[in-house]
Amino acid sequence: MKRILVTGGAGFIGSHFVRYQLAQYPGVHIVNFDKLTYAGNLDNLAGVDESRYTFVRGDIADADAIRAAMESCDAVVNFAAETHVDRSLMGASEFIDTDVRGVYNIVEAAKQLNAKRVLLVSTDEVYGSIDEGAFTEDDPTGPRNPYSASKAGGELMGRAYHQSFGVPVIITRGSNTYGPNQYPEKVLPLFVTNAIDNRPLPLYSGGEHNVRDWLYVEDHCSGIDCALRNGAPGEIYNIAGGNERENIALTHRILELTGRDESLIKLVPDRPGHDRRYAIDASKLRALGWRPGMDWDEGMALTVQWYQENEPWWRRIKTGEYLEYYKKQYGENG
Ligand code: NAD
Ligand code: TYD
Repeated sequence: MKRILVTGGAGFIGSHFVRYQLAQYPGVHIVNFDKLTYAGNLDNLAGVDESRYTFVRGDIADADAIRAAMESCDAVVNFAAETHVDRSLMGASEFIDTDVRGVYNIVEAAKQLNAKRVLLVSTDEVYGSIDEGAFTEDDPTGPRNPYSASKAGGELMGRAYHQSFGVPVIITRGSNTYGPNQYPEKVLPLFVTNAIDNRPLPLYSGGEHNVRDWLYVEDHCSGIDCALRNGAPGEIYNIAGGNERENIALTHRILELTGRDESLIKLVPDRPGHDRRYAIDASKLRALGWRPGMDWDEGMALTVQWYQENEPWWRRIKTGEYLEYYKKQYGENG
């Protein structure tokens, strides 16, 4: 793989993946195809080696544009998505355009162009909530919110294109990811940046019982890379962090690392249909040699320190559209 098309490479995980590829594989050229939605941010890629990197602004929902970008590449790794559950609860139209129609355009172009590899980055949320144990790739999917339903729709189209036409589609399902450069609508960067500003941390009531499995962003990237290079077409690979935490425990850790106290915690009305717990088993990817490298305490300390040291990065985001969204989502509770 000499030229890899990364779609959504200006977002959180995609930008780390671009850096990861350039650092790990000196012969690789990356084409980053990104629409630059509210979540896309070219600051995330400041300083990348421009001689091995090309940026193309485009929308995966535009069939001609994505096909043209794929023509010059051997493989495509799709990160492009609408990604926030709370926004999908306000309206899912854009989620369907990007996460379903966009993925369809990618696999259809891959079929026409005989692409060598198509990796669709998906999420553990497609399985739905699980009270005990952990989902394996053989379990049925049961998405329960419009975001995860859209992601599952894209996945199904990818799987159908593999079955029907032999398009070499590989799917990864990662767990909740954390680290530098995450847009501060997701709980971890939202709470860290609010804590730095001494502002309330809006914990959805029931937060004690809601559990997520946290995966450091570099480990997510190495997992996707392992599946891309060593995985088999038609297969699905879970990428688990192995760090299950109740939301309240996560919140306490953030308060500790930012030197704030519990008075900042504000219990707010619950998210509709809030999935209680996500958990996946990553044995299948581990059998290909993948291991997560980041320890939870170290990953959290590094992440909080990054937001403390990069205030201009998130203060630029927390303006305009962000403030409108925040008001709409949290109202008086923000
Ligand atoms: P993000 O919201 O930070 O970034 C998404 C990127 O996609 C942005 O750069 C945006 O501009 C771009 N984009 C959106 N719509 C597009 C379109 N139509 N055409 C081209 N570009 C478009 O997302 P993230 O958190 O980095 O997630 C990346 C991928 O990983 C997504 O597919 C998501 O479903 C998946 N995932 C995320 C997590 C997580 O915890 N963040 C966990 C598992 C899986
Ligand atoms: P989030 O970061 O939105 O990721 P996901 O819903 O994809 O897992 O939320 C993680 C957890 O944090 C989830 O249980 C909902 C909770 N949460 C809050 O309690 N308050 C918030 O303001 C947000 C955004 C999330």
